[in-house]
Amino acid sequence: MRSQTSISQNATPKRSNKRRVFSGIQPSGDVQLGNYLGAMKGWAARQAEKENFFCIVDLHALTVPQAPDELHNQTRSLAAMLLAIGIDPHLSTLFIQSHVAAHAEVCWILNCMTPIGWLERMTQYKDKSSSQESVVTGLLDYPVLMAGDILLYDTDEVPVGDDQRQHVELARDIAQRFNHLYGETFVVPEPFIAEVGARIMGFNDPALKMSKSYSHIRGHAVRLLDEPEEIERTIKRAVTDSGNEIRFSNDPERAGVNNLLVIYKVVTGKEATAVEADFADAGGYGELKSRVAEVVIDELSPIRARYAELMADVTELDRLLARGAERAAAVSEPKAEEIKRKVGLVLPVS
Ligand code: TYM
Repeated sequence: MRSQTSISQNATPKRSNKRRVFSGIQPSGDVQLGNYLGAMKGWAARQAEKENFFCIVDLHALTVPQAPDELHNQTRSLAAMLLAIGIDPHLSTLFIQSHVAAHAEVCWILNCMTPIGWLERMTQYKDKSSSQESVVTGLLDYPVLMAGDILLYDTDEVPVGDDQRQHVELARDIAQRFNHLYGETFVVPEPFIAEVGARIMGFNDPALKMSKSYSHIRGHAVRLLDEPEEIERTIKRAVTDSGNEIRFSNDPERAGVNNLLVIYKVVTGKEATAVEADFADAGGYGELKSRVAEVVIDELSPIRARYAELMADVTELDRLLARGAERAAAVSEPKAEEIKRKVGLVLPVS
């Protein structure tokens, strides 16, 4: 395990010949197993092969009501969590979105060329707004802010869970539109979505995606900071079906068992055939649940311990985030200037 003194970030990154990765996560709600298996674990695993920017998207979090104190605490806590799961500041730039002004600025410019119909079609917007009487502008605009995040870094790949695919596709459309209107400016980014694990389902309802927004509902999610007993309780209570076959399946009736196998597969890194072979002798779903709980507990225990260590020194954490913001700004500010120049804004004389 790395010592705390190793959490330093180097100064300005040069564009390397590695593919550039950008991804983000909101500091709202508790980080759950879906976030980890669908996105974060892969970020950490591939970081040596890529040039990486990982962003704690606090401005996105403001699109739904947040208690200010909680948002404040969760932002730092998420930084510690990202380091605890293995994001290495020597290999990746980790920063807070609101620390780099270019994100909000460029969002405005992109707003002015994004048709409103593109945003009204976003399924996440439709889902989130349908239950609200009065919808804030930020919720509709959310994907434009996200497009700016991605495009500011000339990003090649955006590793996300399946629920963010449509937003990355919108970022591609916005990049292409801007390039068409103002000349070649943006790299058109590709979504990078795992074949298995990109949509982890809720334990209490395998038809519903596991989500931070429901993680307070008992039995819905395993949160990364849950104690082993809590993890075991949640997984043991997982909804399955009335059968006894332990195999991967696309049958919606068998989604609960499939979800448990997917979790086991992503955590252990085994092939699907090896996963099924592991359960060939299992007595039934009870045993499946116990073994899934065991691998999840083994995976999360060191993360919880490392998180506690990191949270014990928030000054060091803040220093690290400040360095991350500097590195992010060194890349995104020149890009923001290029965008401003292209659309005809006068840049201040320095
Ligand atoms: P957020 O904070 O909702 O989720 C962070 C990441 O976790 C993935 N995820 C899941 N993957 C598999 N199964 C699940 N049940 C599950 N739940 C969440 C998400 O797909 C995501 O990859 N809009 C983004 C944040 C963002 C961003 C960006 C991402 C802002 N700017 C630029 C990429 C690039 C979001 O709200 O993620």
